[in-house]
Formats: sequence, structure tokens, C-alpha cells
Amino acid sequence: MNPGRLLVLEGIDGCGKSTQIPLLAGSLRAAGHDVLVTREPTDGPLGRRIRAMVAADEPVAPEQELAWFVEDRREHVREQIEPALAAGRVVVSDRYYLSTVAYQGARGLDWRSILDESERAFPAPDLALVLELDPRVGLARVQGRGRSLDPHFEEAGYLDRVAAIFRQLDRPYVVRIDASGEPDAVRARVHEVVSERLGLL
Ligand code: TYD
Repeated sequence: MNPGRLLVLEGIDGCGKSTQIPLLAGSLRAAGHDVLVTREPTDGPLGRRIRAMVAADEPVAPEQELAWFVEDRREHVREQIEPALAAGRVVVSDRYYLSTVAYQGARGLDWRSILDESERAFPAPDLALVLELDPRVGLARVQGRGRSLDPHFEEAGYLDRVAAIFRQLDRPYVVRIDASGEPDAVRARVHEVVSERLGLL
């Protein structure tokens, strides 16, 4: 049976994931694939709890923050990702465990152990596209959408540390994409990588 594929998009706030994901999902569907688009933090109870924390900028210990994201992911994998993969679907997730590695690593936790533990606990993605962008450009894009910055994660100094960890990830399933260009140029590169790496397009 077709084992399904797990494709994740990662990167700092404002890197363009939410523009690229519907475009990619549309191309995959046009190529005949059964696609599940999903995201983390999830829309489940834990994900909503996390979003409330982010919006309110509650002071939370890094270990607590890590535990919440991991718990939300455990439920996401069990209830949505694994069943979809077992049914042979192509899962496209807006963020997955590399976000925890980079964002909670940037809080001062050991990102290499978060990565090792995540790989033990969760299915590794077949492909993780990391959209790379200068954090200040990303934040300007977020504000350009008319949204105020959430104080918990959307701060340039912190995002510099997040971006630095994304740059150091050394896994064969990670491919970095320059996200500083026009959306259409980024779309073309995403398409090309998904085609070369997974043969899905
Ligand atoms: P985000 O994808 O930006 O959600 P939204 O589009 O609803 O704003 O995720 C919210 C924040 O959570 C974002 O700043 C990154 C952070 N985050 C982590 O710190 N660790 C994680 O494991 C995940 C999935 C997200």
C-alpha cells in the first residue's frame, strides 16, 4: 500500500509559509494526490491554549513551553498525521517538530536533544522545507498585513537566534529555500524541490 508522505514547511514568522502552503497543496491536488493540509500549533484544545499564551505573552518557563508544544504534537500525530499517512495521503503541515527545535532551542534549551527526542517520538518528515528570510524582513511582512506583532515570539533578537538554529539543522530531509524573492519565485523553487526530492509533482 502507498505509505503516504509527510511534507512540512518551516521558518520564522513572516517567511511566507501561509502563502506557499495553499499553492503547494493546489499543485499536489492537481497532480492527483489526496492532500491533508494541517498546522501546528493545532486547532485542538492544546493548540488553542498555546495561542492564548502567545497572544497574552504569559511568562512561561522554557521547559513548560516545550512540554506544551510536544503534547500538542503528540495528539496531532496520533489523531491526524498517522491516520492520513496510513491512508496513503500527502500530509502538508505548516510547522512541525523543527519549529520546536528552533524556537524552544532559542529559549536556551539544548536544540540538539530536542531534535533527537523528536525523531524518536514522531515520524520524521519525508521533506522539510525551511523558508529562509532575514527576521527583520519577516517581521515587516507580518506588520504589513496589518497585524500587530505578538510579543512572545515575534521579536527580532529572538528570531535571529531561531533563524540561526534553522541554519544549523543537519538532516538529510531538510532543504533550505531562499524566501526573500517574490512569492512566485519561491513557489517555483518549492515546486522544483518537491518534484526532485519526492517525485510528487
Ligand atoms: P504560527 O505558525 O505563527 O501560528 P499563527 O500563524 O497562528 O500565528 O505559530 C505561532 C507561534 O508559535 C510562532 O511564533 C512559532 C511558535 N512555535 C513554537 O515556538 N514552537 C513550536 O513547536 C511551534 C509549532 C510553533
